Amino acid sequence: MCGIVAYLGEKQAYPILIEGLQRLEYRGYDSAGVTLVNGKLVTIKKKGKVRELAEEAKKFDTSSTIGIGHTRWATHGEPNDANAHPQLSASGKIALVHNGIIENHTILKALLEKHGHKFTSDTDTEILAHLIEVYKDLDDLSLEDAVMKAMNKIVGAYAIAVIDVDDPDKIVAARKQSPLVVGIGENEFLLASDASPIVSYTKKVVYLNDDEIVTVTRDGGMVIKTVSNQLIDPTVEELDLDIEELEKGGYEHFMHKEIHQQVDTVSDCMRGRLNANEGWVHVGGLREYNNKIAHAPRIIIAGCGTSWHSGLIGEYLIEELARIPVEVEYASELRYRNPIINESDVVIAISQSGETIDTLAALQHVKEKGALIYGIVNVVGSSIARFTDAGSYIHAGPEIGVASTKAFTGQVTLLAMMALHLGHENGALSESEYRHLVSELAQIPEKIGRVLELEEQIKYIAAEMKDANNALYLGRGVNFPVALEGALKLKEISYIHAEGYPAAEMKHGPIALIDENMPVVFIATNQSANEKILSNIQEVKARKGRVIAIVDENDKEISALSDFTIKIPATAEPFTPLLSSIPLQLLSYHIAVMRGCDVDMPRNLAKSVTVE
Ligand code: G6P
Repeated sequence: MCGIVAYLGEKQAYPILIEGLQRLEYRGYDSAGVTLVNGKLVTIKKKGKVRELAEEAKKFDTSSTIGIGHTRWATHGEPNDANAHPQLSASGKIALVHNGIIENHTILKALLEKHGHKFTSDTDTEILAHLIEVYKDLDDLSLEDAVMKAMNKIVGAYAIAVIDVDDPDKIVAARKQSPLVVGIGENEFLLASDASPIVSYTKKVVYLNDDEIVTVTRDGGMVIKTVSNQLIDPTVEELDLDIEELEKGGYEHFMHKEIHQQVDTVSDCMRGRLNANEGWVHVGGLREYNNKIAHAPRIIIAGCGTSWHSGLIGEYLIEELARIPVEVEYASELRYRNPIINESDVVIAISQSGETIDTLAALQHVKEKGALIYGIVNVVGSSIARFTDAGSYIHAGPEIGVASTKAFTGQVTLLAMMALHLGHENGALSESEYRHLVSELAQIPEKIGRVLELEEQIKYIAAEMKDANNALYLGRGVNFPVALEGALKLKEISYIHAEGYPAAEMKHGPIALIDENMPVVFIATNQSANEKILSNIQEVKARKGRVIAIVDENDKEISALSDFTIKIPATAEPFTPLLSSIPLQLLSYHIAVMRGCDVDMPRNLAKSVTVE
């Protein structure tokens, strides 16, 4: 949540900050702001998206070669101009942007108020700006030392960037739990919540670690210290990211582009890990712990949102193909329980961003209990990727649309390959079954391409569904999590209330809601469940519900009974989610577009959830 960006160099800072904020908007978009230094601090803040800030900024002189910027997802204080960042210190000489939460802000605020401080916002961030100034003035400290002292007093999660009008050739930034990347360019530095604002200027980056403070200066200096004043020798890494990956590439929305990228992203995920001709799957990340994971007494999968849904599919895949017991946990619950976990357990964390605070905290919690931690992550170099003992990247490339699509299919592809690898390793799969499934999995990208060709038909169904107030998604077995994911996609971007349910559970509640206004989407591509699904469809039809069924190309009976049918290629049952989820992504996308919703930036949501 919230994106921060900072620039110090020879170029004009303002356009770089605005462009950077636009790239970070997926992290939050309820207000935005920048502070520039031009003899004095020039702060421009606006409720709304970054384009509204850019409009407001036309009224100001924005010339400056140093500045900080922020795009916000409100935690403390409603989204308005006053609560937007940057926040200023009491004298107005220090400006600060912050991603995270200062948990002890109430105590700090009371202390500062006792000493006469007045606050102009409801944010925890403003308190931090005041605190830094107090330390700087009281103890006559440099900006970086004052930040360090403040860091030792605050509790919470943060990535911050600070500038000071009295020290105008310097940016001080720090991190704990929220990401921060430092880009090292030619006579310039860029700092940001992720690499997307940086990559057009330099590919040389340093990922700041927790409890580290970086100071960059106009003379090219960069000093990194820990909060306990230890000097750090930074590791400079090379970014593997192209600017085209961050553009819409002719599509109207990132989500649409990302749905259509799935032929490539799924095959990129398989590249080097699966060979259909030779009939093998090998997930390199498992190498070091092959034996331990293949013979683990159980695997626990943790994640949030869509990543939790892929975890549920992972449970089915790993239990079915590798016969290892699996439990799937919401990371936000796992982190606060006292779970019975020990050294023999394996915990798989699934996260697109690699920054979700609940997932990271759950991992810290289970690591203390000695479990081996494996990561399935998209963003290279992210906090979760760096925290795990071993792991695999899904190689989906930057996912910018807030509603996850290609990351979901990437995660499921990786889990499918892991299940095959482990099942082969521990003997749960026969050689012939294994080879058959490897060959089926290899055909998935081409079949995704065939599902995408159904877009016009799906658009037609979207038009039929777009005015519904509620929708029900039902599936069985491995397609039950697909129902959950389909419902999530619809509610998050079109604001139609939708629920996913195991089809058989319908009669224990949701059936009461069914009438002629209720579209019911059945995911019926797993042959083993289809007879049962057929009876569920009859139950819906008997109550005048409108049935939309996703079936495979061999189906006749379900299609005959349904109001609308989407026929997709057949595949081995465990891999059906990789195909059945795609019409649901397209359906939600087109419904949201038809309803005039902001598909890439749905209200109240953010892509990277770095607060609790
Ligand atoms: C947010 C996003 C979802 C995502 C979830 C978990 O809610 O909007 O798309 O599934 O966070 O994020 P992660 O990056 O850990 O997969």
